[in-house]
Formats: sequence, C-alpha cells, structure tokens
Amino acid sequence: MCELTGLTACKTHSRRIFLQGIEKTKIVMDDPWMECMDHCIAVTKEAGKMIREALQKDISIMQKSSPVDLVTETDQKVETLIISSIKKKYPDHSFIGEESVAAGAPSILTDNPTWIIDPIDGTTNFVHRFPFVSVSVGFTVNKEIEFGVVYSCIEEKMYTARKGKGAFCNGLPIKVSGQEDITKSLVLTEMGFKSDAQNFRTMMTNMESILSIPVHGIRAPGSAAVNMCLVACGAADAYYHIGIHCWDMAGGAAIIREAGGVIMDITGGPFDLMSRRLITASSKAIAEHISQKIQLFPCGRDDTEN
Ligand code: IPD
Ligand code: CA
Repeated sequence: MCELTGLTACKTHSRRIFLQGIEKTKIVMDDPWMECMDHCIAVTKEAGKMIREALQKDISIMQKSSPVDLVTETDQKVETLIISSIKKKYPDHSFIGEESVAAGAPSILTDNPTWIIDPIDGTTNFVHRFPFVSVSVGFTVNKEIEFGVVYSCIEEKMYTARKGKGAFCNGLPIKVSGQEDITKSLVLTEMGFKSDAQNFRTMMTNMESILSIPVHGIRAPGSAAVNMCLVACGAADAYYHIGIHCWDMAGGAAIIREAGGVIMDITGGPFDLMSRRLITASSKAIAEHISQKIQLFPCGRDDTEN
C-alpha cells in the first residue's frame, strides 16, 4: 500500500518495449494518471517544506489587487518549483497557477491534461503565521478533475484523492460526517472582501441568514482548500464561498467528492470549477438548505476575466 495515498488499487504490470533498439521492461501503471499523482504528492511535499522554512525567516509582503489580496516571494518561488518540476516530466501538459495568472498567463481550462495550482492557499494566514496554510493542486483531463492533492503543510496533513478511489489524509481513509440536519452543523465560510460595499453587505447578510437557521456555528479558517478538507474529514459539515478561484477549489473538489461529500454551485446547480463559487457539504440536504438561504453577488468567472 502506498504510504501517502493509502491506495492499493494502483496495480502495475510489466510491458516490454523497445527504446533506441534496446529491449527494456517498463513498469506501466494500469491507471494512466496515477504516476502524475505520485509526482504531485512528492513535489507538493517539497513545496510544503519550502513554506515551513520560509516561516522561520522574515516575510516581505506585497499587495496584488487590493490591500487584502497579498502575495509574498514564497508564493512565487513555490509555484515556480511546482511548475518547473512537473514541466520537466510532462512537457505537453497545461497549467493554471495563481501566480502565473497574476503575471498575465491565461486561465482557460481546456481538454488537455491540466494542473491547477495554488502554491500557498492561505497567504494571509502565512504572513501572520496562522497555522492553516496549504499547497493545493488539482489535475483535470477533458475538464474533469482526475485527482486532487492538498498539503496542509504546517499541520503536516497530506490530503489526497484519486477519482473513484477514495480520499485519504496521510494515507488513512477519510469521509464526511454524513450530517443531514443543518441545525446540528458547523459551517465554514470566508470573509475575503475586495472593496465592493454592496457585495460586502450581501456577504454579511448571508452569514446572518445561516447563523439564524440556527447552526452550531460558523468558522473561517482562511484557506479554501483546507476548508474543503475539513468538510471531507468530518470536522465541519459545510463550506460555502462566493469569490474564490479555480486554484483554491480544484484539489479540494476531488477530495470532498471522494470522501462522500456533495459539491454544488451556490444556485443549487452543478459545480463549475471556473465559476468562482461553491457549496460543499456532508449531505445534499445541508448543501441545498444553504443554497436556499444565501444570496448571490456578482464575482465574474476565472475563464473570462483574463
Ligand atoms: C484565499 C484563501 C482564503 C479565501 C480567499 C482566497 P489565497 O486564497 O483561500 O480562504 O478567503 O478568497 O483567495 O489568496 O490565500 O491563495
Ligand atoms: Ca494563493
């Protein structure tokens, strides 16, 4: 069994191939994307180590789109590390990385195998040394998420999920709480706010509507990918958010699905990775209840803004 993925299903078999006239025996995975996932876990671990080391030094902070949209040199270094390592092995694959997009790269999802990367999800936590900071990678083929890896690197929790093969944390299977009663639920959301007063009011009204259902409570841990993993392992029962990005959601979406959770659009329709919004929950009943309670506000799409 693989120590980190917990998967026993990644059987291999030998195939004889000819390379430059020399017969070689090659180990070929039954699952074509499993090798990519193994590589992803290795590079994500390395990235997490880089982040932990950076926390021991001074952190210089830069602003992106607003005073609450932060970036550091470490975000950029980690993304470079991940993309260059993957590119070396898979030169034909595509990438959507948060910091590359910030530097002008397109964020258009195609059918090509695509790595969707957030080098540090929870940059504000990182600069404050608040301990929920993750590296998040989702991998899509034909626009479908094949696997997700989220490494909550201060807690040293490696969450992984391969489509159809379950979700794991440090190699142990995880599943959602299964809670169906929203009045017994703990709900996660985030309060990221970029200058629009009307959106801010709607966001606060939404929180009030959820709290007055009532629910047991609302928490905002500060990393969308970690939030999804907290729902996936049953520590929380739902997470909703309007205004996040595909790199915040891609890794966690695989994990929540494989942990038996529900993921849908805020409107109650199918989840759309490029839509910048989501509800995830331990059950359809809770997800639908949240969808009925909250009001939408415009936040654009990841594939039309750039
Ligand atoms: C942010 C985090 C945060 C959420 C923001 C995201 P970043 O990602 O996921 O929880 O509230 O909307 O942008 O900027 O730290 O990668
Ligand atoms: Ca980030």
